[in-house]
Amino acid sequence: MTNLTRLPLNPFTGLRAAITGGTSGLGLALVGELLTRGAQVAFVARRRDLVQRVSRQHRAAHGIVGDVSKKNDIHPIAIQIVGALGGLDVLVNNASDLGPVPLALLGDTECEDLERALATNVLGPFRLTKALLGALASSAREGRGAVVLNVSSDAAINPYPRWGAYGASKAALHHLSSIWNAELAGDGIHFLSLDPGDMDTPLHALAVPEADRSQLKRPETAARELADAIGRVLSDRRAAADARAQETIQETLHDSRQPAHPAS
Ligand SMILES: NC(=O)c1ccc[n+]([C@@H]2O[C@H](COP(=O)([O-])OP(=O)(O)OC[C@H]3O[C@@H](n4cnc5c(N)ncnc54)[C@H](OP(=O)(O)O)[C@@H]3O)[C@@H](O)[C@H]2O)c1
Repeated sequence: MTNLTRLPLNPFTGLRAAITGGTSGLGLALVGELLTRGAQVAFVARRRDLVQRVSRQHRAAHGIVGDVSKKNDIHPIAIQIVGALGGLDVLVNNASDLGPVPLALLGDTECEDLERALATNVLGPFRLTKALLGALASSAREGRGAVVLNVSSDAAINPYPRWGAYGASKAALHHLSSIWNAELAGDGIHFLSLDPGDMDTPLHALAVPEADRSQLKRPETAARELADAIGRVLSDRRAAADARAQETIQETLHDSRQPAHPAS
């Protein structure tokens, strides 16, 4: 039975969260935001020097060097996440690849560029989620409220010319999230697929170098919005689990008040 008396009111206190792509842009902002809210955080990125820099900047966070697009990196990443945090409540699949840079029409897109976008944006999140399902299911059983947030984009919905590789991969990730959710919500693992909006990050600068950066959202703002969305799910889950636990207690009390051998 769920032991909710030990769970704090702030759903982020002691929350065990992992974020891919935690050394730049939105991922880096999420590392800071979740730590500030009281979570334990592990983050993943490919470049060791940047992982070390962020680990120095956020001493409470656990940095992991790995490439989510590489099949052989997934289990080492998953093992390090669970080892560092002692379990997992929230996974944020945030690391992303644009496909061809400069962005290209589909007819001019190299197959290898599409392949890399799919490996990073679809297969990577799929493999990492699968590798961590046991830890997430265990979190859900403990009534902590397991959440997977897949970071999406408006390019997942709108067919923007030159965003073909990225848009197709984000569309696949978005649909994958919906199906995961339909399959696993009953087990208490909730999937979110959210578009953070156009942000002032290195990825955006690569994709749209001519953009007016002053018009773009700060990644810290998007991180707060995404953390709020995660918090709402966790609070709802815990409230539902709390109600179930209360019902069980009431039923147990009721049963214990019944005579063992009622008079016939
Ligand atoms: N920026 C926008 O306007 C915008 C709009 C809509 C949606 N998004 C989405 O928001 C998310 C964050 O984007 P961002 O703009 O913050 O990107 P960003 O600044 O380019 O940061 C990307 C992060 O992911 C890591 N990364 C990239 N490939 C990886 C891989 N294969 N394995 C592990 N880590 C990897 C990078 O570090 P390394 O290079 O060292 O690995 C870096 O930490 C993405 O999912 C993106 O699609 C962004």
